[in-house]
This record gives sequence, structure tokens and C-alpha cells, in this order.
Amino acid sequence: MEFFDDEERFMSSMQGVSEGDSENSLRPKSMSDYVGQDKIKDNLEIYIKAAVGRDEALDHVLLYGPPGLGKTTLAHIIASEMGSQIRITSGPAIEKAADLAAILTNLNEKDVLFIDEIHRLNRNVEEVLYPAMEDYALDFMVGKGPSARSIRLSLPKFTLIGATTRAGMLTSPLRDRFGVNCRLEMYTPEELASIVRRSAGLLGVEITEDGAYEIARRSRGTPRIANRILKRVRDYSEVLAEGIIDAKVSDIALGKMEIDKLGLDNIDRKIILTIIDKFNGGPVGLDTLAASIGEDAGTIEDVYEPYLMQITFIARTPRGRICLPDAYTHFGRKANQLAYEQLSMLDTEDK
Ligand SMILES: Nc1ncnc2c1ncn2[C@@H]1O[C@H](COP(=O)(O)OP(=O)(O)OP(=O)(O)O)[C@@H](O)[C@H]1O
Ligand SMILES: [Mg+2]
Repeated sequence: MEFFDDEERFMSSMQGVSEGDSENSLRPKSMSDYVGQDKIKDNLEIYIKAAVGRDEALDHVLLYGPPGLGKTTLAHIIASEMGSQIRITSGPAIEKAADLAAILTNLNEKDVLFIDEIHRLNRNVEEVLYPAMEDYALDFMVGKGPSARSIRLSLPKFTLIGATTRAGMLTSPLRDRFGVNCRLEMYTPEELASIVRRSAGLLGVEITEDGAYEIARRSRGTPRIANRILKRVRDYSEVLAEGIIDAKVSDIALGKMEIDKLGLDNIDRKIILTIIDKFNGGPVGLDTLAASIGEDAGTIEDVYEPYLMQITFIARTPRGRICLPDAYTHFGRKANQLAYEQLSMLDTEDK
């Protein structure tokens, strides 16, 4: 079975692909350092305690939500609270069913296997996961033609943690095999301010309460963005304000980065103004919108839209994206009738 032996290829090839070392240094290592997401944390803590008490592997966990909200971080914390080893790979890194088989057969009891971007697994690979998740078993064919037969190999009891920004793109057989589903929410300014203060402490930079809030309010509900802004503001503060980050230097730095009061950047502005000006407020299909601003449709959907929807600037309708009254107000435009109609439709859907 020599094809099972080269698993390091796709495991190590993933290390540090998407995250620089500096992001790792700010990454919380325990549940108590992990700010916010209280409901998820409370539940996970119980599941982990129970699994540890029974000396069993934790059930498979699916983490989903927009980029930078803490999925990878939480996967590491879960493994560490379980006292388990974590093996890291990603959907696109596993090209063939045999690649996944190699990874699975090299796991130890209670290991955590973290598959990032799990929505990008190809079909053949995904099918290997079904029995692995459900029965801790690996089925494969030996021989060819009439003499071919299927052999079942048992696997150590492991925990799969899948992360995705696109839960909607998971097939239902895969989604159904996760015992624990966690949808990460955007963070409140208070939570982000506390993340910013913690990060400032780790970076050894002084920050005022106002300074932390100024950054927090303009970070689109996202810890990764808050940390990134903090580092840039630190540069400005060292040059302009003797190294102390207050609201004033934060505001100046954010202005220079062209991040507005709500945390919107040039691309957000382009999205909104294109919908309002070129498409008369919408509805406009995602692909048409993407083509007319020269951005990738997937990036708009994953990275930009979640926050714009969160602050009720845009909405998705069956006929495409539309702008809501808040977006018009923010950019000093007058909302059209459709924007109000759509808003009232959203309100009734919420109730
Ligand atoms: N709850 C949290 N408390 C404190 N810091 C956090 C929290 N969540 C995330 N962070 C910070 O934000 C950074 C990005 O988080 P992480 O890499 O876990 O996001 P992600 O959801 O995996 O993003 P992606 O979808 O792009 O992979 C981390 O390095 C960490 O410093
Ligand atoms: Mg991640």
C-alpha cells in the first residue's frame, strides 16, 4: 500500500499558505482568549468536556462564516482543548481519493483533521470522506474487472473539522455528516475593541480606549481586519504620535488608508455606487456586477457582501443585488422607491 505513504506532501504543503507568521502570533491559543462567539464557545466547551470525559473523539465539527472571523483559530483551540494533535490540509490540496486515504490512514486515535475550504473538495475525494466520517472506515477497490472487490479498512476514531466561507456550496451528504455546526457571526465593536487591546498588548504598543474603539468600528466586524488595521495605525502612531495609539491618530491613519467611518474601502464604494448609478439601485446579477467593476464574483460574494448585508446596505433578492436606503444615505444620495420596498420586505421576512 505504498500509495498511502506520501501524505506529508499535501499536509505540509498547506502549512502557512494563507496566514503569515505575524497573524499566527496574534492568534488566541485557548477558549478564554478567544473573544466573542459566546454561544458557539459555550456549546463547544460542553461537547469537548463530555468527549474528554468519555475518552472519545469529539464529533465532527463544521465551522462556517466569512473570511477572518476565526475559523482556523477555533479549529486549533478545539484540538488543543481536546488534548489532540491537529493535522491541517485543505480542499484544493487533496487532489485524489488516494491522497485523502493516505491522510486518513496516518491519523492516530482522537486526532483532529482540519480541512480548510472544505467546499472545494472534489467529488471523488468527498466520497471517501462519507464512510470515514460515519463509520471510521475506508472502502477501496482492489483488482480490476470481474475479480474486483471492495475492501473495508478501519480507521482510528478521529475528529474532522471542516471550515468554509461557503456553507451553501457543501453537498448535503457531507453537511449531514457533521454532528456540530457552527456559524460564526460578525463581531460587535466592543468585542473587536477587546481583540484590538489584546493584540496591542502582544505587539507591545500602547493604545487608548478611544483608539481601540476607532479601529474596532472600522473593521467590518472582522478580527483579521482589526489586527491588520492596528498594525498600520501603529506605524502612523510611531511616526506621528510618539507610539501611542489614540482616536486621533487612528482616524488619520484610517483616512490615509481610505477606509471610511463604517470601515468601507474603495471596492465597497465601487460596489455600492455601481449598483446605485449604473443599475439604478438594482436588482443586478452578481456576475454582471462583478464584470462592471472588474472584480471576481466569488470575492465580492465571500469578502465584500457579508458586511454590506450586515449593515443593511445591500440585499440579495431572487433577481439580483439591490441597494437599501442606508447605502443611499451614506453616500448622500436619495433612495428610490424600490429601496424602501425591498427594505420593508426584508423586515417582514425577519419577523
Ligand atoms: N475570536 C477571536 N478572538 C481574538 N482574535 C481572533 C478571533 N478570531 C480571529 N482572531 C484573529 O483574526 C485572525 C484571523 O482569524 P482566522 O485565521 O482564524 O480566520 P478564518 O475564519 O480562518 O479566515 P479564513 O476564512 O480566511 O480562513 C487570527 O489570526 C486571530 O489573530
Ligand atoms: Mg482560515
